[in-house]
Amino acid sequence: MMRVAMIITRARAEEKLLLKAFQRRGIEPELIRDEELVLNPLAIDPRWSEFDIVFLRTLSTSRGLYLLEYFDRWEVPTVNSLRTANICADKFKTSLALARAGLPQPEVRLAFTPRSTLEAVGELGYPAVLKPLVGSWGRLLAKVNDVDAAEAVLEHRQTLGNFAYHVHFVQSYVDKPHGRDIRAFVIAGQTICAIYRSSSHWVTSTARGALAENCPVGAELQDLCQRASDAVGGGVLAMDLFETEEGLVLNEINHGMEFRNSIEPTGVDIAIKVVDYALSLAEQHRQDGSEQT
Ligand SMILES: Nc1ncnc2c1ncn2[C@@H]1O[C@H](COP(=O)(O)OP(=O)(O)O)[C@@H](O)[C@H]1O
Ligand SMILES: [Mg+2]
Repeated sequence: MMRVAMIITRARAEEKLLLKAFQRRGIEPELIRDEELVLNPLAIDPRWSEFDIVFLRTLSTSRGLYLLEYFDRWEVPTVNSLRTANICADKFKTSLALARAGLPQPEVRLAFTPRSTLEAVGELGYPAVLKPLVGSWGRLLAKVNDVDAAEAVLEHRQTLGNFAYHVHFVQSYVDKPHGRDIRAFVIAGQTICAIYRSSSHWVTSTARGALAENCPVGAELQDLCQRASDAVGGGVLAMDLFETEEGLVLNEINHGMEFRNSIEPTGVDIAIKVVDYALSLAEQHRQDGSEQT
């Protein structure tokens, strides 16, 4: 019997679905709330050695990253890996990883002052999109259509934002056909399903009410997602892609995916596929352990 820990901030729809999927496999994961945890870097809490896998489902990116640093230090197996989470949590690190692998993405720039950022945006051309490096649900995304708007957003970030908003990430704006983008669900390099997300707003996040419809997984999508998964270290990933005249481009990759709105349109039981992957990693870890002893 595999022993699974699932660390959560609170039980969203996804955590409930994952829990049920584990139970369907005859496994009762131990649910651990991140608010209770205290980490000592000098010694591993013996409770963690009781698990074959620790599944991180924290709501907070920073809590998740510190937990992964801790588990990585003590070689406790996790979903996802520290490496994958470190890259995917940060839009510039993701961009670098994709660029290194030669994969298509919108033009991106990173700059440290409003003045240098304005120059960079000017070179990319308007409209452009300013984004926090770390974030989700479309929070604080700004589409700037001209230099006046860019100046205003940058001044607000500099004056009202904390240090996390003083490093500026800019992307060229992609005029999405049919007002939609693609969200692909990728497990161990395999795209298990995908949805189109469409909205009359340029931000097509389902968290913001975009409509989700099934997107057939063709060879181009499958191949690009496989290579993107390799580029960021694999695992359980949700990838955002745009359709362009030159083909698909990767916008961003999420390592802590929400999927509640995608089961019905795709007809794919995403939770059980995630669970089976986590259990296969646990199995592998057990075998590696028994080979060493
Ligand atoms: N460069 C862009 N061009 C066009 N639309 C964009 C661009 N960047 C983001 N969007 C829209 O905003 C949504 C959220 O952006 P994303 O980069 O995925 O940030 P988040 O991490 O908040 O999900 C995307 O799904 C897309 O609809
Ligand atoms: Mg996104």
